[in-house]
Amino acid sequence: MSNLNLGDEIRKLKKERNAVIMTHYYVQDDVQDLADYIGDSFFLSRKATEIEADVIVLCGVRFMGESAKALNPGKVVLLPAEDADCPMAHMAMVEAIEEVREKYDDVAVVCYVNSTAELKAASDVCVTSANALKIVSRLPNKNIYFIPDQNLAHYIADQLPEKNFIFNDGYCHVHHSITKEEVLAAKKQHPNAEVLVHPECKPEVCALADYIGSTSGIINYVKDSDTEEFIIVTERGVLHELGLQTEGKKFYITGSPQTCPNMKKITVEKVYHALKNMEPKVEMSDELIVGAKKPMEKMLELAK
Ligand code: 13P
Ligand code: SF4
Repeated sequence: MSNLNLGDEIRKLKKERNAVIMTHYYVQDDVQDLADYIGDSFFLSRKATEIEADVIVLCGVRFMGESAKALNPGKVVLLPAEDADCPMAHMAMVEAIEEVREKYDDVAVVCYVNSTAELKAASDVCVTSANALKIVSRLPNKNIYFIPDQNLAHYIADQLPEKNFIFNDGYCHVHHSITKEEVLAAKKQHPNAEVLVHPECKPEVCALADYIGSTSGIINYVKDSDTEEFIIVTERGVLHELGLQTEGKKFYITGSPQTCPNMKKITVEKVYHALKNMEPKVEMSDELIVGAKKPMEKMLELAK
């Protein structure tokens, strides 16, 4: 079936199943175009709590599907590409959390939402790149164990010198592999462009930024700016929404691929099959749902 026919079939099936499609900006352009709701990780988590439909088709990686399920246990959550998983989500250990808790009695375990449900269940509060600074600054604890992303942790820690951060060595391979030299080369080629960086990038790359923020933060910054050229230092999927939301602006990326292979596993065809067969479903035990939901709800509360 062509993508055009698939689009019609998907719309029909969506009605039949009473389903909505939620997508992240890093998925392929034609999948983004299917979205009822598109946004950054924070938007997707918050929106998931407001969904009235029976079925959520989550076009993103596994932790996004798990977050939607934990916040909405009564809904069916479909993950069109079952093997779309974020490697960073696994880059921390429950045992290490327990060790840190034993060592520091006043510690808050802060879990970036890009993490497995098991890690969330062992943590005190979740954060996303859009709200991490606000949430950590609102915690009464001095000691902060931030998992799994070292780069987001450093970005926040630098702005909160009153806190004592305990770092974990996880990272996003897509953002962590973008080098300072690549950004400097792009700047040299486009001297009038502003540099917009996601905080999953290394500190030396963040240091070159005119703006640092989540994917939605970057898109909003461009929309509000009078500047015409931008070097976009995050996964290249955001270029699609940037193109749709702006006119006459130019966007460049660096010499790094800036492609998340897991996000790109979701295809229009897989969305169609998910809705047709009502699988793959995100399955979680009741215990895991309760455990993962708690720090996510705390995030939503503290982010208000
Ligand atoms: P945000 O959309 O929250 O900025 O997240 C980036 C990301 O890496 C999602 O996988
Ligand atoms: Fe994970 Fe990075 Fe891909 Fe986001 S871009 S899903 S953090 S690997």
